Amino acid sequence: MAASFLRIPLPRVRTSRWRRTPVLGIHTTAAHMQLSHQDFEKAQKDLKTLKKDPGNDTKLQLYALFKQATQGSCNAPKPGMLDFVNKAKWDAWNSLGNLSKDEAIKSYIELVHNLISSEAPVKDPASVSAGQKYDTLQVVSEDNITKIYLNRPEKKNAITLQMYNEIGLALDEAAKDDSVFTVLTGNGDYFCSGNDLNNFTNIPPEGKEKMASDSADILQAFVGKFIDFPKPLIAVVNGPAVGISVTILGLFDMVYATDRATFHTPFSQLGQSPEGCSSYTFPRIMGLSKAVEVLLFNKLLTAHEACKHGLLTEVFPDSTFQKEVWERLKAYGQLPKNSLAFSKQLIRETDKKALHAANIQECERLKERWLSEECMNAIISFFQKKAKL
Ligand code: COA
Repeated sequence: MAASFLRIPLPRVRTSRWRRTPVLGIHTTAAHMQLSHQDFEKAQKDLKTLKKDPGNDTKLQLYALFKQATQGSCNAPKPGMLDFVNKAKWDAWNSLGNLSKDEAIKSYIELVHNLISSEAPVKDPASVSAGQKYDTLQVVSEDNITKIYLNRPEKKNAITLQMYNEIGLALDEAAKDDSVFTVLTGNGDYFCSGNDLNNFTNIPPEGKEKMASDSADILQAFVGKFIDFPKPLIAVVNGPAVGISVTILGLFDMVYATDRATFHTPFSQLGQSPEGCSSYTFPRIMGLSKAVEVLLFNKLLTAHEACKHGLLTEVFPDSTFQKEVWERLKAYGQLPKNSLAFSKQLIRETDKKALHAANIQECERLKERWLSEECMNAIISFFQKKAKL
């Protein structure tokens, strides 16, 4: 079970994030309890079948729930400050306080269920429309929905140049296919960590001006696909979002997020400037002064804050997120396709010209920013920090 995952060293962990582990209803009858214990054993077995590393935070969460479920509240002595791994595990367990064993079992089962279902969304191999032809995405057609999964979980779904192109292609196909609407989501614990900063390190022989110009063209085409997408476009934000994965949210028709998600656009920190039409959409969605705080001053929003400011449609508890969201979307997938598409187009049409203009301006500015000393220094600093770890 979880213990086997936890043999992997856990270098940097944020335990505070999941103190919010939702407590689900408790089974009260003997029959229910028996079922829960059987489910608990099954969940431990299922966990071993996970193909991808679910990330440190999730592993700690599993560890803590398992300890709480089997031994009750944390009663072990606190490890020393320098014993990082055991300290992180102890903190995780201890943060569950006096959560009952039954509640811990229930949350553990839910969490494993969500991990398994997010990893294996394809029930029928025949329903995979185009998954195999993408290196960085997984595309699944089911329930009248085209589901585009960002699929570089080990890099927090950072978007490489190839991935920009592949997302564009997947959107082109989704626009034409039989689906009622399209969903963008991420595999793993992150929705997306934004532009892959390695995009700036591959300087072509023609020089960095060419790199900046090509990147701006790719970005402009990428964002253009979202502006022109003819059917409802829904984001299922399965974890933290950074940079462009936040700014394009203003171009989606609905955004559902787990309460574990955060929204961060550290552009000025990186010597850059906003994209994804956020210079146009964010002030309109959240008001000018909040947009300024977010886009200029790197203000990180929690999911509930982002929802309060209008960027999200709804926030769900992490433990039930996948189940609740996909059930709801499955029902929406039964609605008449053309009616939804025409209604979306009516809502979006008036803004389209302005959005394309904003996209062009933002990409022009970024072309200049990417060549600036401010930006270069910030990128070098990111990779230097990494190298020191
Ligand atoms: N570009 C390139 N690599 C990235 C990346 C990005 N945007 N985001 C994550 N990665 C890589 C990390 O370098 C690391 O690679 P490694 O395993 O080869 O060392 C891997 O993904 C896992 O990320 P890590 O940093 O170990 O995870 P974390 O949970 O500690 O932190 C982030 C996650 C997203 C907070 C951190 O990676 C980060 O700050 N990334 C940069 C985000 C960014 O500035 N995006 C651009 C916005 S405009």
